[in-house]
Amino acid sequence: MTRQRPERQTGYWDVLSDVAARSRRYLEAIGERRVRPDPHALVGLAAFDEPLQDEPRSSEGVLEELDRIGSPATMALAGARFFGFVNSAALPAALAANWLSTAWEQHGGFELTSPGSSALERIALRWTVELLGLPPGSAGSFVTGTTAAHVTLLAAARSALLSTAGWDAESDGLFGAPPVTVIVGAEAHSTLAKALGIVGLGRRRVRTVAADSQGRMRPDALPPIDGPTIVCLQAGNVNTGAFDPFREIIERVRASGAPAWVHVDGAFGLWARAAPERAHLLNGVDLADSWATDAHKWLNTPYDCGIAIARDADALSRAMAIQADYLPRSAGDANPMDRTIESSRRPRGVDAWAALRALGRRGLAELVERHCRLATRFADGFAAAGFRVLNDVVLNQVLVTFGDSETTRRVIAAVQEEGTCWCGATVWAGVTAMRVSVIAWPTTEADVDRSVAAIVRLARHAVGASDAHLRDSAS
Ligand SMILES: Cc1ncc(COP(=O)(O)O)c(C=O)c1O
Repeated sequence: MTRQRPERQTGYWDVLSDVAARSRRYLEAIGERRVRPDPHALVGLAAFDEPLQDEPRSSEGVLEELDRIGSPATMALAGARFFGFVNSAALPAALAANWLSTAWEQHGGFELTSPGSSALERIALRWTVELLGLPPGSAGSFVTGTTAAHVTLLAAARSALLSTAGWDAESDGLFGAPPVTVIVGAEAHSTLAKALGIVGLGRRRVRTVAADSQGRMRPDALPPIDGPTIVCLQAGNVNTGAFDPFREIIERVRASGAPAWVHVDGAFGLWARAAPERAHLLNGVDLADSWATDAHKWLNTPYDCGIAIARDADALSRAMAIQADYLPRSAGDANPMDRTIESSRRPRGVDAWAALRALGRRGLAELVERHCRLATRFADGFAAAGFRVLNDVVLNQVLVTFGDSETTRRVIAAVQEEGTCWCGATVWAGVTAMRVSVIAWPTTEADVDRSVAAIVRLARHAVGASDAHLRDSAS
């Protein structure tokens, strides 16, 4: 008996229309559901946990099961009131481009196997370099996120610095290599430490420079620089949104005359350079050698989409490119895989191209500026209700405390449980705080006001409860 091709059996075309309809229903309803999934939906996930059956199932059946059990068990990141971590929502054009380019099923490692996608990635990268005012001719790649961008760029930095000392890090590794000093700020993001560990520079083997009250590296605390050195700066602290003083520090590094590479963690903050009213916060950032950022943060692409950009294209290729007789070489520009840690890869830069195309320069500037204004609106709402905002709100991040650590944690748990919005916890300068990060394109003033009202109501209740507890224990 001849078997039908699987796609004939399973309604290959119908499932593609079905997924669009189901996605639309999901997104249309997201504004009215709890941000955090209902506990019943989480319990319902157990229904996925079956032994794998013997026989094939239809694509539509698989999708129906995924939607019925999986969709209710999602956190509403795609909506307007998720303010946790630094998580954005996908712009419609970027989501749609993601679907179409997935249907293209291009192997994004080579130009040969993804001619259209490679061209779009090249253009999106050039637009990004121009928008962010980075040196013309900088090279880069689309990677999974800022963590992967750190790994990519720190590997390039390590290779470039060691080659000035006559050492070939790619061929000979780091055992016996001349030392490379690594300088980081006291409030550097944890993913930077992870990346330093991965590329063999060590998480602990760094020189840490003291930070000021907002988490900015203090230029007066920078140690003298001699010998090959990597200096890691930050555009947008994950708690306060603050920026390191780039110009002052980088000019000092250059003045030392030592072989140095300045790397910038700009996961979300680098995009403020595209907003004329915030660009001054990044004065001198273009003097660095490499920049790690995320399109899946302020550019509002779907996950995952990070960007690694290096001033020195050759250093990046030296660290990343490989050759084999069966692999295609590209004419002119390098193959995408020559600048990434991956070989097989999704050409995720297509999503970034679509987001940039949809927003344009003005749309992106307005998006960044709107989020910064909304963060100030949050801070004003908290302050007006008598709660203490811990940071200078210069960007899109707000830290608020509701009293002692236990009370603040109680408020955060109540906010997450109640479901109007979702915010996470942190500790800043020894004080437990709630973090609010405004970065999703659908968020409006009405969403902020609704969220502030819910948070303040829950906080007053929790503060009242802890005052009563203190009175009871004192009497
Ligand atoms: C400053 C900073 N650096 C790095 C990262 C890590 O980015 P990713 O999760 O895309 O690797 C983040 C994430 O929020 C961040 O805020």
